[in-house]
Amino acid sequence: ELGPYSHFMQKEIHEQPKALSDTIEAILDDGFSAELFGAAAANVLPTLSGVKILACGTSYYAGLTAKYWIESIAGVVCDVEIASEYRYRDAFADPQHLVVTISQSGETLDTMEALKYAKSLGHRHALSICNVRESAIPRASDLVFYTRAGAEIGVASTKAFTTQLVSLFALAVTLGKVRGRVTAEQEAQYLAELRHLPGSVQHALNLEPQITAWSAQFAAKNDALFLGRGLHYPIALEGALKLKEISYIHAEAYPAGELKHGPLALVDENMPVVVIAPNDALLEKVKSNMQEVRARGGELFVFADADSHFSDSDGVHVIRTPRHVGVLSPIVHSIPVQLLAYHVALTRGTDVDKPRNLAKSVTVE
Ligand code: F6R
Repeated sequence: ELGPYSHFMQKEIHEQPKALSDTIEAILDDGFSAELFGAAAANVLPTLSGVKILACGTSYYAGLTAKYWIESIAGVVCDVEIASEYRYRDAFADPQHLVVTISQSGETLDTMEALKYAKSLGHRHALSICNVRESAIPRASDLVFYTRAGAEIGVASTKAFTTQLVSLFALAVTLGKVRGRVTAEQEAQYLAELRHLPGSVQHALNLEPQITAWSAQFAAKNDALFLGRGLHYPIALEGALKLKEISYIHAEAYPAGELKHGPLALVDENMPVVVIAPNDALLEKVKSNMQEVRARGGELFVFADADSHFSDSDGVHVIRTPRHVGVLSPIVHSIPVQLLAYHVALTRGTDVDKPRNLAKSVTVE
């Protein structure tokens, strides 16, 4: 079943070009149409006035990324909340805000309960982004988009995450289109970017030997800090979660602009710092944050793209993806952080597919 791979996690990381192609197939065929999200979506999507995303763990980080896309591409207000927090607070509910749950398994209890609670507060419509057909959460939702990642067996979510991301991107563009904000020309541009995505992800997978070469340096440390800004901040969060979950190394993520408001105090030669730094509008800001780290002796491990114009220097190690892929860049940059966590865990000899204390589907509170 594992083929040439040592673990399900490694296999599932490498299945991402296929998982993404399968998930976007219908979009490439028919464009960004409301029907992708269910028969009722053509009536629902034009009328909503906001989006409320509810999820846990890695799926929550997919939601955080979606907020950037939904607000910038669709021009719709979007808030994202951890399901286990939302379900127990007196939340404000606008009936016209679409509830979007994100769940690989479709059975996560906190996400299910948050959905029921949102409905009880008066939210009229709920969209489930889910990888398992006919599971509890899509059954309780009037709109559904199934990611087509295939069965995910490793406890650490990988291909489910990137397929969630691409689905949420499709939601953002579709919302923008039905609201008259995305022009036909822009739609064609987004389709072209989607078409290139599986190839760009494959290029990122080809970086595995370079990433493996970094793993010993992380495996020897007790902590790691992940930095990103904008669309890439949630990818820093995801990188830190993957690392702690499977290698048991304490890791945190911060939006790089927050460094000087506290976490910079942690930085010294024992704190490797991973930076997600593709060539986007915030790159110059990220570069000055990197100097702040370097000045305190922190060693930098940078995931950049060919357009970021970085090179290795003392205490600065750089791995580059071949080209900048615009708004889909967080999907491509998920790959190196997954591979880093995987290879650090291998070096430490942990049980990669079944990390201690964790279950694949969290159906208890
Ligand atoms: C992390 C991980 C978990 C899940 C979370 C939600 O690698 O897998 O954080 O993302 O338990 O699970 P689903 O998406 O099934 O609701």
